[in-house]
Amino acid sequence: MPSRKPKPEIVIAPSILSADFSKLGAQIREAVRAGCAWIHLDIMDNHFVPNLTFGPPIVKALRKVSRKAYFDAHLMVENPLTLIEAFAKAGVQSLTVHEEACQQNLGEVIDTIHSLGMKAGVSIKPETPLELIHQHLRNLDLVLIMTVEPGFGGQELIPKCLNKIREVHRLREKHGYAYKIQADGGINEQTAGLVVAAGAEVLVAGSALYNERPLAENVAHIMKSLKQDFAQR
Ligand code: DX5
Ligand code: ZN
Repeated sequence: MPSRKPKPEIVIAPSILSADFSKLGAQIREAVRAGCAWIHLDIMDNHFVPNLTFGPPIVKALRKVSRKAYFDAHLMVENPLTLIEAFAKAGVQSLTVHEEACQQNLGEVIDTIHSLGMKAGVSIKPETPLELIHQHLRNLDLVLIMTVEPGFGGQELIPKCLNKIREVHRLREKHGYAYKIQADGGINEQTAGLVVAAGAEVLVAGSALYNERPLAENVAHIMKSLKQDFAQR
């Protein structure tokens, strides 16, 4: 029996955290050539997470590599408010902050992201209850459910996080909210079907895409695994 609503298109967003940092430009070009419309940028400050990556100047430089890629920045930083304008100027289209990093001013942070012309996303870590962002759901363009503890690529997906994907999907259906549902962490050929079945449509993948095999082949394998998973339903 076909479902009444068409399933939203699945987006695979390569996380350049697992790319070769000595040739980031080429690694982004490879993803764009493979048909990836989104590029996921993991920004880490060594406070919110115990790892340090890159900031607005690098993003600005990467913007020149591809004008058409949709830059999806995932801020794993304390006090993101002070960085929002710099990321807007660097050419980011979608900015996602963590609830845990702005417990006092999440509403202000979301409004500021919107006022600078970007899409606004909020992310929650595996132990953070979804209830903490309920009041903001109506204003969001993206909800990022972390499926690993943020900080590092190459970890295994935590299965209990799938429940939060189901719940945020249920709430979107019930209230007609507009946000996209993104899952991030441990997504590969084996797990992509789980997060899509739970309700996610934007799948971040780092180590499953940037490895010894060409990225285009890795994307094709994930898409093929999804087709097989859903053909069996
Ligand atoms: C982790 C980052 C992820 C990471 C995912 O904190 O938010 O985007 O790059 O890496 P994989 O796909 O290897 O789990
Ligand atoms: Zn991420």
